[in-house]
Amino acid sequence: MKFFLDTANVDEIKRIAKLGLADGVTTNPSLIAKEGRDFKTVIQEICSIVNGPVSAEVIGTKAEDMLKEAYEIAKWAPNVVIKLPMTEDGLYACHELTSNGIKTNVTLIFSVAQGLMAAKAGATYISPFVGRLDDIGVEGMKLIRELRTVIENYGYQSEIIVASIRGIAHVEQAAIAGAHIGTIPGSLLPSLWKHPLTDIGIEKFLADWSKMNK
Ligand code: E4P
Repeated sequence: MKFFLDTANVDEIKRIAKLGLADGVTTNPSLIAKEGRDFKTVIQEICSIVNGPVSAEVIGTKAEDMLKEAYEIAKWAPNVVIKLPMTEDGLYACHELTSNGIKTNVTLIFSVAQGLMAAKAGATYISPFVGRLDDIGVEGMKLIRELRTVIENYGYQSEIIVASIRGIAHVEQAAIAGAHIGTIPGSLLPSLWKHPLTDIGIEKFLADWSKMNK
């Protein structure tokens, strides 16, 4: 399973990249706004830290605006991926960009039908949001399992990015479901390697060792 970092914070990305855990990065307008820095500068900085795909989202809602932005963003770095909303205009832009060899990530996917449409339009990545589905009482992980089946049934090239991840259970279940990628908030990552029994175990080993050396 590949790990993308769901953040636009450069310090967080550097910390995790050092561990070899950053296969890519996803951003969205909210994450960029949180940093309070210039969009292009942030994306270019992230693209220089991470060797893998970095998603940058368009703001336009009409296909022609999306495409104008996308062709500009695509010039910023070789590993940039254009993130598009799951709308009719977004699908049109996805199809057009894919035909021109530009990688895309269709975001805000909440149903199997939407995922199927994005895969058919040629999206490099499709981003179903598990946390936001859980928030409204719908099991988000079910969508991941179903999309995995749909992609396998027809041999679509799109990779599933499990988005809107809220906790360790989401990451574990996404891996068990066979999702290609999980995009994980930087703040959540340490909880993936930490365990209280590991800390207790280290303390005990060190205490025993120090007794022997007295
Ligand atoms: C990633 O592509 C999404 O933008 C992100 O995972 C959304 O997460 P949220 O629902 O926690 O905002």
